[in-house]
Amino acid sequence: MKNLFILVILAVGISLTACNTGQQNATSNLGEVSEVTIDSLLALMTLDEKISLIHASSSFTSGGVERLGIPELVFSDGPHGVRHEHGRGWFALDGVDDRSTYLPVGISLASTWNKDLGYIYGEVLGNEAKERGKDVLLGPGINIIRSPLNGRNFEYLSEDPFLTGAMAVGYVRGLQDQGIAACPKHYAANNQETDRHNIDVIVSRRALHEIYFPGFRAVVQDGGAWSIMGAYNKINGQYTTHHEYLNNVVLKGDWEFDGVVVSDWASVKDTREALLFGTDIEMGTELVRDFNNPVYDEFYLARPAREMIESGEIDVSYVDDKVRRVLRLMLRTTAMNDHGPGKRNVPEHQQVALDVAREGIVLLKNDGLLPLETSNIQTLAVIGHNATRLFAERGGSSQVPALYEITPLEGIQNLVGNDIEVVYAEGYEPYYDQSLFADISGAAASQSRENRRDVELARTANQSLKQEAIALAERADAVIFVGGWIHGHEGMPWGEGTYDAEARDKLNLKLIFGQEELIREINRVNPNTAVVLMGGSNVEMNNWLPDTRAYVHAWYPGMEGGRAIAEILFGEVNPSGKLPMTFANSHLDYPSHSVGEFPGRNTVAYTEDIYVGYRYFDTHDKEVVFPFGFGLSYTTFDFSDLTLSKDGDKVLVQCTVTNTGARAGAEVVQVYVHHKNPSVDRPVRELKGFDKVHLEPGASARVSIELDASAFSYFHPEEFRWVMESGSYEIQVGNSSRDIHLTSAIEL
Ligand code: BGC
Repeated sequence: MKNLFILVILAVGISLTACNTGQQNATSNLGEVSEVTIDSLLALMTLDEKISLIHASSSFTSGGVERLGIPELVFSDGPHGVRHEHGRGWFALDGVDDRSTYLPVGISLASTWNKDLGYIYGEVLGNEAKERGKDVLLGPGINIIRSPLNGRNFEYLSEDPFLTGAMAVGYVRGLQDQGIAACPKHYAANNQETDRHNIDVIVSRRALHEIYFPGFRAVVQDGGAWSIMGAYNKINGQYTTHHEYLNNVVLKGDWEFDGVVVSDWASVKDTREALLFGTDIEMGTELVRDFNNPVYDEFYLARPAREMIESGEIDVSYVDDKVRRVLRLMLRTTAMNDHGPGKRNVPEHQQVALDVAREGIVLLKNDGLLPLETSNIQTLAVIGHNATRLFAERGGSSQVPALYEITPLEGIQNLVGNDIEVVYAEGYEPYYDQSLFADISGAAASQSRENRRDVELARTANQSLKQEAIALAERADAVIFVGGWIHGHEGMPWGEGTYDAEARDKLNLKLIFGQEELIREINRVNPNTAVVLMGGSNVEMNNWLPDTRAYVHAWYPGMEGGRAIAEILFGEVNPSGKLPMTFANSHLDYPSHSVGEFPGRNTVAYTEDIYVGYRYFDTHDKEVVFPFGFGLSYTTFDFSDLTLSKDGDKVLVQCTVTNTGARAGAEVVQVYVHHKNPSVDRPVRELKGFDKVHLEPGASARVSIELDASAFSYFHPEEFRWVMESGSYEIQVGNSSRDIHLTSAIEL
């Protein structure tokens, strides 16, 4: 196929100019392709052939043109590992070699606050996608965490747009340096799963530009993303996948994006709008039509589009622009370019999974119990369903056919070897708990009622599992409880959101399956208990945390996660993860619930506007349990000598960080900007820079973080443009949004 393509190019006398083969770290020129080549190919194509490039030809391919040697484009999920092979259909194929590296999920990556890990994370995915013959990887997921209840928060990065962008840029570059297009998703404001195909997000332009767009802008302008995925939802009345303002004005206009807007699977709803308002490839439409009998020529951007062009209703130049973008993407990627071989399931990929897990796990409470000393423990009780549960192949489209997955129990057993007797009890099991739905009202309740079919499944916690666990805890020297959220829906009716998964939201943050009661009982019989929770968000903590000596939040830490958890609990690794979202006690504390709406039905009003996450909690001085950016270490750090120096519009922030404890460790220096006298409402602080430093005991480092004009600007709510006002700005430096250690003001 590729040979034929090259023959065609040679026949029209054009050479393929910018095919860097197999280069590493060559982001600067990797995406350069010859526009002449693109134009000459376009000139050879009939309307039918052009149309074939802009819609799906199977579940995960879009069409090619055999006559011209233009291949199909091959897509694959997902954001933290390459998904199962589907062939041309919708079901994972049996008996194929598709085992892959299962990386910690997106929110784990963000919790590392380590941009270098973002790059190598993308590099792993790029290599594995290439080895599997893919051209476009459908990630990273960069929607803002607006509510802790969103079922896909585990795939996303943060409540903060700056952290989201900073981590995603490395990911995109690492991936694309392997010749695989990133497809950051879902553009934009796809912040609830409830009714995701139809929900209309009512949001101000200011909130779009300050909160929901910056991550996408960063992956386009700094990461150079070659494609972007539209979302399912509408924004202010128009579907995002063919949204005139989002795609034509902002993405392709202001940000000069020259790549491809891929629809989410079945997010195109209208041929005319898709032609005019920026959708370049339509995927997945049969998912809502006839799943078992797809007719690709009936896609909105197939026969109906062809007829609109032929009738003259819409000019062919709209199709030509899409085709140019698709060809550009093909020339950039493995589709039409040789980027060398990929690799899969190699030890260095597993090492990246381990490194991200080690730095992404967050230690939130420790009164001295951790790290555990093997010499003090003869019998260790590991309790909890999640200590042995596998997570890779769950959660929706982001599922990964992991080569292996080390569970926490295995990680602990491997680490302690024969030194300690490890006893295990499951303690609780997943079940459908009707009481979870007792205190919900409004939209969530009606959704719940509509979908509830199997109420007879309702049970209460398994008392014998619980008693067995408590008895074990009582006789052990220490207990590690491993629980939290799960992916997947065994025993639960479809649509009942008590877990982290696509297409549903959680109903509240109550610890599911009777775990709260179990933790309290365990704490009562054995105070040497460390709680490790998994999940894409927090849980309600007020009823068990005060009596719990140590709490570690592990998210879904990937194939090496069990090992990393054990290493942190026993002090072989010093924790350095920091929360990328605020942990408040109840979902009702979050501004999306207390000020705005969540989830909406039909429409959802983002009344909290720009006050998402800590922007709200800190500005309004609301109580939180653990603030944004927070995470403990086994050592201590001191911040000193803050200096600010001006260079034109830029400000250089410098400070010294010293490891004042007895262990090597890493600290994240977080720089927040506070505008002292703004003419519009602004949050009390916004994250505008950060850096992670690794320090030996007693060592110091001078950290420099540059802030440019964007760090001081806001999006003017009436003039619809970015404004940097002169005035006095306070620079706040700390290690969480509520632990500011140094401040200094500057006039700009
Ligand atoms: C999801 C996307 C995913 C796509 C393909 C959609 O339902 O929202 O994130 O990439 O399916 O599986």
